[in-house]
Amino acid sequence: MLGESAMSKSQLIDIALNDLKHGRAGTMQLADEIYKVPVEKYYDQDRFELERRRIFRRLPLVLATTAELREVGDYKAMEAAGVQVLITRTKSGVVKAFVNMCTHRGARLTAEGCGKAYKFTCPYHAWTFSPEGDLVAVYAEQDFGAIDKSEFGLTELPTLEKAGLIWVTLNPKSDLDIEAFLSGYDSLLDQFGFASWHLQATQTLEGPNWKVAYDGYLDYYHLPILHGKSFGTDIGNQAIYYSWGPHQHLGRPDTSWSEYEGLEPEAWPTERLLQGVWTIFPHISIASFQGGGRSVMISQLFPGETPETSRTVQYYLMENAPDKDELVDEAKDQFDFLKFVVGEEDYATGNALQKNLDVGARDYIVFGKNELGGQNFHKWVDAVVEASDEDLPKLFQTG
Ligand code: FES
Ligand SMILES: [Fe+2]
Repeated sequence: MLGESAMSKSQLIDIALNDLKHGRAGTMQLADEIYKVPVEKYYDQDRFELERRRIFRRLPLVLATTAELREVGDYKAMEAAGVQVLITRTKSGVVKAFVNMCTHRGARLTAEGCGKAYKFTCPYHAWTFSPEGDLVAVYAEQDFGAIDKSEFGLTELPTLEKAGLIWVTLNPKSDLDIEAFLSGYDSLLDQFGFASWHLQATQTLEGPNWKVAYDGYLDYYHLPILHGKSFGTDIGNQAIYYSWGPHQHLGRPDTSWSEYEGLEPEAWPTERLLQGVWTIFPHISIASFQGGGRSVMISQLFPGETPETSRTVQYYLMENAPDKDELVDEAKDQFDFLKFVVGEEDYATGNALQKNLDVGARDYIVFGKNELGGQNFHKWVDAVVEASDEDLPKLFQTG
């Protein structure tokens, strides 16, 4: 029997062979039909609320990278879809996540950001909690009155750390199995080895409706056009989509794999097999680059305050921390370049696109047969929005 790693490598090789087949035949994968998305789905307030509640508050989200909380005592506090979250690396090494809310009168326990702490003292009346979430001290306890501290621990959120990424479900009562939701996709992501990678830089971008922004990450059709000046016009506009449940990887027709055809799996370079875009439903995109060494940009999208806005945090992860000035400079140049591409090309386009949607000009927009990734994404968004709490787990049962 093959181990999990060998199995996922052989899946990567199958993907490359399929990309090769299309490259040789001059074909690509096409959807059965052109797909319409009603424009209201991008601006209607009720729809927006439903997506926030039913997608972002019910599904596991990638809230952090292992690189941000590598050691015992490391923590990250952040807001995700309106929920304030505290993620900790506990004494046992296991990551936990909590609502960042003191159990006394509900104050935010810790300000947003990453740091190291072996206890969290509330800024309001100094109740103190451990990274495990236990209430360890009550200020002026003799005056407060007797309470059973074990009933006043922080509210824990379902969490899973896999492949160097940390998933958290924002609903404390969720019984959705995070592994089932991942549909085996994490074993492919694990081939990157993010667990030991280094976080070099982050940035935050304001964008259009989160789905307008995400559509762009699933789209190679626009690459030689919108990014013609940055990436060049011969980058290719065809994608081949591979799905694991709702999660999709973008390959492309590619004849360059012929040099490895027929070779043993060990001879195939894992690094190259991982090229392309890896999206994690509903809100993550991972793209590989070279700049100061091997690197990826992980984009993490959240709905904004209104339907027309979103917030994207981008993490520039590097396989190795750059240890020479020239590598640091190269990494900075690469990240600045990507900032330009995403901010000035993708999001500038998306923000202007967003303004056109609610003026009554068109009832729907369209995704072509060549835009299967966007089609799949919108079908999954609808399926999750429409699913009852009871039916939600059934969407992720693989059979
Ligand atoms: S609200 Fe935290 S100690 Fe009072
Ligand atoms: Fe783009």
